[in-house]
Amino acid sequence: MTALGKLFRTTAFKLSLVYLTVFALFAAFLIGYFAWTTSRLITQEITETIDAEINGLSEQYGQGGIRRLLLIVDARSRRPGSNLYLVTTPSGEGLAGNVGTLQPGILDQPGLTETPYRRLDEAEDAEHRAVVRVVRLAGGFRLLVGRDLEERERLHDIILSTSRWSIAVVVVLGLAGGFFVTRRVLKRIDAMGGTTRTIMQGDLTGRLPIAGTGDELDRLAENLNAMLERIEALMHGLKEVSDNIAHDLKTPLTRLRNRAEEALRVAKSESDYRTALENVLEESDGLIRTFNALLMIARAESGESGEAMSAFDATEIVHDVAELYEPLADDKGLALTVEADAAAPVKGNRELVSQALANLIDNAIKYAAPEHAAPELAPASASAVAEAPPAREPPPGIVVSARSEGEWVLLAVADGGPGIGASDRARVVERFVRLEQSRSQPGAGLGLSLAAAVARLHRGELRLEDNSPGLRATLALPRA
Ligand SMILES: Nc1ncnc2c1ncn2[C@@H]1O[C@H](COP(=O)(O)OP(=O)(O)OP(=O)(O)O)[C@@H](O)[C@H]1O
Ligand SMILES: [Mg+2]
Repeated sequence: MTALGKLFRTTAFKLSLVYLTVFALFAAFLIGYFAWTTSRLITQEITETIDAEINGLSEQYGQGGIRRLLLIVDARSRRPGSNLYLVTTPSGEGLAGNVGTLQPGILDQPGLTETPYRRLDEAEDAEHRAVVRVVRLAGGFRLLVGRDLEERERLHDIILSTSRWSIAVVVVLGLAGGFFVTRRVLKRIDAMGGTTRTIMQGDLTGRLPIAGTGDELDRLAENLNAMLERIEALMHGLKEVSDNIAHDLKTPLTRLRNRAEEALRVAKSESDYRTALENVLEESDGLIRTFNALLMIARAESGESGEAMSAFDATEIVHDVAELYEPLADDKGLALTVEADAAAPVKGNRELVSQALANLIDNAIKYAAPEHAAPELAPASASAVAEAPPAREPPPGIVVSARSEGEWVLLAVADGGPGIGASDRARVVERFVRLEQSRSQPGAGLGLSLAAAVARLHRGELRLEDNSPGLRATLALPRA
């Protein structure tokens, strides 16, 4: 399509054309109305003048007879101006006046008529138009009084040419304005189109240009840009997550493969194979657990599990989960205390909240256990093992609590372990993030991600705070 064709097809140009037509019609109507009223006024004035003259002259005729009338008409005929006079005998022969020729039959027509005429003192070919009135006087004489119409016609001409010009100017200006506006709009739309094409080619960093005028196109561009910003962030997050998943699942899968390979290579007896298979099973279970955790996080984040919401008391969950983990804590030499007396009503997915709390308790047991909390205190040599261990303060243990605070129900797990440095607290809730200090413990780095996702699903939050020493992880859920 040519540039001009493109211009004509734009909405802005079509709108300009509509406005232009409406405006031109309006201008034409206005000028027409003006011409019509002016012409009517002039005609009215002419008629009044003619009638007044006829009245005056008839009166003179009544008083002084035909001689007086002829004298007056003769005198008036000599005056310069556009008035016409003619007095004739009953048979139509001219006695006085300034009219040379008239349209035949005019003298027999009573009332006002328009007629072409020629003055007495003019050449043969000169012709004008006049409006005339003829009256019959007593005695059969006829009196004609008229007025030249040149004035009115000149006015008509002036109005006609003015209107032609003004409408031409309106059309030219309108078209020029339309072109200008449309070109501007088209230029901006083209720029937007260019950006969208680069975005469609896969470059999500493109943003629509903003002219800074704050008009509707600017507002549209701003909104679209905000949308692009959001999409880019989401895509980035998605890419990061899938990259992480691919990377972090590769290690256990490789380990699984290596174990199977090693078994094939070195195992000799049936019991060797059995051990190898058991190892492979254990590794596979770990992978399945990781996949389940990932799926659970995805479900919590998509809001899907929000459908299974029910009202329950969080203190029950705290008791149940703590009871489940007590033997494990005992094994690690940690005291697990529960502080949950008053009711803490919550509306949510009971299974997910239990899982989130379990993850927090699991972390506390894993990372705050004495041998983990202070590895540097562990005996350095074999001989040291034989000596009595140095007297150490008993570990502070783990406190699991549920309480209401304002609009929140707070489920907290506090331990006395190494804690998480303030700079790492934001990072550890991301998928697969594990701190260097805890590499010696098993785990996939998904426990806190799930807890945070569950909190978000319930419009709450996961808070990680310093328990000095240790970590205080709190699941804050809105109170029902
Ligand atoms: N109570 C805690 N004390 C000290 N560090 C902690 C504690 N809880 C979590 N962390 C740190 O945060 C990291 C992330 O915890 P998260 O529960 O998400 O993963 P994980 O425990 O390593 O693995 P998973 O829970 O999936 O088995 C842990 O690897 C650990 O470094
Ligand atoms: Mg964990």
